[in-house]
Amino acid sequence: MSSGDRPSVEELMIRAESMKLDSEGVRKAFEHPSAPEFADQTSRWLPNSDNVHKLLLEAIQRHMPVKGHVLDLGAGTGRLTKLILEQFPSASVIVADYSTTMRHFAAAALADYDDRVTVVDLDMFASLWPDSICGFDVVVSGFAIHHGKSTEAYRLVYRRINEVLNDGGLFINLDHVAGEDRRSSISNAQSWRDFLDLDGGIDSDKFILSSYAEDRPIPISTHRQLLRETGFEQIEVLWEDMIFALYMGIKKSTR
Ligand SMILES: C[S@@+](CC[C@H](N)C(=O)[O-])C[C@H]1O[C@@H](n2cnc3c(N)ncnc32)[C@H](O)[C@@H]1O
Repeated sequence: MSSGDRPSVEELMIRAESMKLDSEGVRKAFEHPSAPEFADQTSRWLPNSDNVHKLLLEAIQRHMPVKGHVLDLGAGTGRLTKLILEQFPSASVIVADYSTTMRHFAAAALADYDDRVTVVDLDMFASLWPDSICGFDVVVSGFAIHHGKSTEAYRLVYRRINEVLNDGGLFINLDHVAGEDRRSSISNAQSWRDFLDLDGGIDSDKFILSSYAEDRPIPISTHRQLLRETGFEQIEVLWEDMIFALYMGIKKSTR
């Protein structure tokens, strides 16, 4: 039900369905010159962002060797890479993204860490990844995998991630997830709108519309199942709030 002139969250979600971007539309959005600025405002739209990033770094600390090799998948501006490089001075990171705009931004933002960073062009949903993408202790991702256009696309990307990890390697993802049913998805999105409204400077409804038009989130239970099917164990949800979750899995030893 609408209150006053404001559409309900459910109405926004239905409207977003009719505006759904296809893969080309999503790619174009990330080529836009304003894309890096939006991606770098995470603390405004992610609840408890400092704490969530702390949890992410703590998980990496628990599972990565000192000279760890990391893949940041859909790395955008290099925001997560920078946190990792700062926290782990001997780690090196491959910064992978399919957007030229984002890669240019990331290369400039990470210029100070030159010898520990390589920026590469990669479409994570491509059926084949280059042979040079391999041997990682950690694959990290933030707000990128939710563009999987089907359960099969998610399964494929998890299989690729598993293949490029060393045995015992960590996959960790901070992302937009769906509720377990429509009712919980709507209620989670309502909580998120309440949170966005607190900012005062964000057009919450526009934000919700564009997020649901771009993203194709799936429930945590489906992520768990897909991770199990593609060779992960110790699958854990480290944090979950509103429409977001931080979850991880460890690559099962193949020996
Ligand atoms: C919202 S930004 C998040 C960036 C960063 N991970 C962060 O947490 O700040 C999403 C990024 O995923 C990238 N992306 C989306 N789909 C992708 C794909 N199929 N392959 C590679 N990168 C992709 C976009 O270009 C964009 O840079």
